[in-house]
Amino acid sequence: MEYFLCAPYEDTFTVSAWHPLYYNKSPQCREGEPPEDHMKVLVTGSNGLLGSEAVLYYDQQGAAVIGIDNNLRRDFFGPLGDTIWMLTTLKKQCKHFTHLNLDIRNRDALFDIFKKEKPALIIHCAAQPSHDLAKDRPFDDFEVNALATLNLLEATRQMVPDAVFIFASTNKVYGNVPNELELKELPTRWEYAKPEDYHGINEHCRIDRCLHSLFGASKVAADILCQEYGRYFGMKVGIFRAGCITGRAHSGVPLHGFLSYLIKVAVKGETYTIIGYKGKQVRDQIHSSDLVAAFDAFIKHPRPGEVYNIGGGRENNASVLECIAMIQERTGREIKTTYTDTPRLGDHICYISDLRKLKSHFPSWKITKRLETIIDEIVASEQEKP
Ligand SMILES: NC(=O)c1ccc[n+]([C@@H]2O[C@H](COP(=O)([O-])OP(=O)(O)OC[C@H]3O[C@@H](n4cnc5c(N)ncnc54)[C@H](O)[C@@H]3O)[C@@H](O)[C@H]2O)c1
Repeated sequence: MEYFLCAPYEDTFTVSAWHPLYYNKSPQCREGEPPEDHMKVLVTGSNGLLGSEAVLYYDQQGAAVIGIDNNLRRDFFGPLGDTIWMLTTLKKQCKHFTHLNLDIRNRDALFDIFKKEKPALIIHCAAQPSHDLAKDRPFDDFEVNALATLNLLEATRQMVPDAVFIFASTNKVYGNVPNELELKELPTRWEYAKPEDYHGINEHCRIDRCLHSLFGASKVAADILCQEYGRYFGMKVGIFRAGCITGRAHSGVPLHGFLSYLIKVAVKGETYTIIGYKGKQVRDQIHSSDLVAAFDAFIKHPRPGEVYNIGGGRENNASVLECIAMIQERTGREIKTTYTDTPRLGDHICYISDLRKLKSHFPSWKITKRLETIIDEIVASEQEKP
């Protein structure tokens, strides 16, 4: 079925007929005038890194986007984690964006929104996102990450069972199992020792009998719930287990948003503390826009309850030391560092997402932003900030 976007969005889309509201059906709409039947997209965590990227993308596609975010990131991480600057940006840039200052733990209010708005697509990005913070706020962590995900899934099942539901999961569902792989130490990084591990961690990795952190445990609960709503109820739920997500929209803090925070420290001339593993721990980095592109590929061809590992993969991975070297080279400034020997409990030593399942299901999806480009983008945005 072919639908058209309203001017000024001139592209023509061919989409699967999973929802009649997917895009405005009429090509006759006048410029500046809202089409009558925008697809309604609900994004949780809409002020955050990933949520704001999804808001901008679907707004540009001509959808009416409802963003839910109560700036809990500031409460979790203090003023550095404040996301109001992003809300202001979204309000300025978007054409059909409505923000709701709501806590997703508020089930009644959430159900009222679903009843009224009937979203065709739900992109769930709100979370307590820190591995380390979870131990200090165990109830907030579980209630936001697990219980509120159940609120959203059940609201979807009761009110809009045909909607597509995207869940931003994490590689922390694998706990420290990835550390069981044999590694070799190179001058600047840890690397998989065996050729068969070259592509990284795939979806068959064990998720139990290991150490997760309370954050990993609450995300496992949500991840399994999402799978169940896909498998048991047949709903169009997609689960994306991400490595490090990054981009200029991150309000990076010491406990979350590694690359964004490291660049912030570098630009301000402050000192960065490297924690454990000689700074050779490897993370893969994906730009939030590449992740949203993967969501969109799934949305067009959903597979109920499917799980995907996603991150920068082999193309976009680097150790902490390598990231520091890249940033120094690109800014021309040395980054001051200190070192703490004890690693974070359960921290991955080398994590690279195996992207082969995702690419086999969605062959046209690819990484479009390389690490150098991402670093340049974040540096420029940090330098612009007062
Ligand atoms: N950033 C990463 O490196 C990374 C890696 C893997 C997975 N993820 C997952 O991706 C998702 C998005 O991560 P992010 O980096 O954009 O996080 P983020 O902290 O930048 O954004 C999350 C947003 O959710 C909001 N929020 C939190 N609790 C809320 C609540 N109860 N009600 C309403 N709003 C609430 C916060 O204020 C914040 O703006 C999360 O589920 C996270 O676990 C992130």
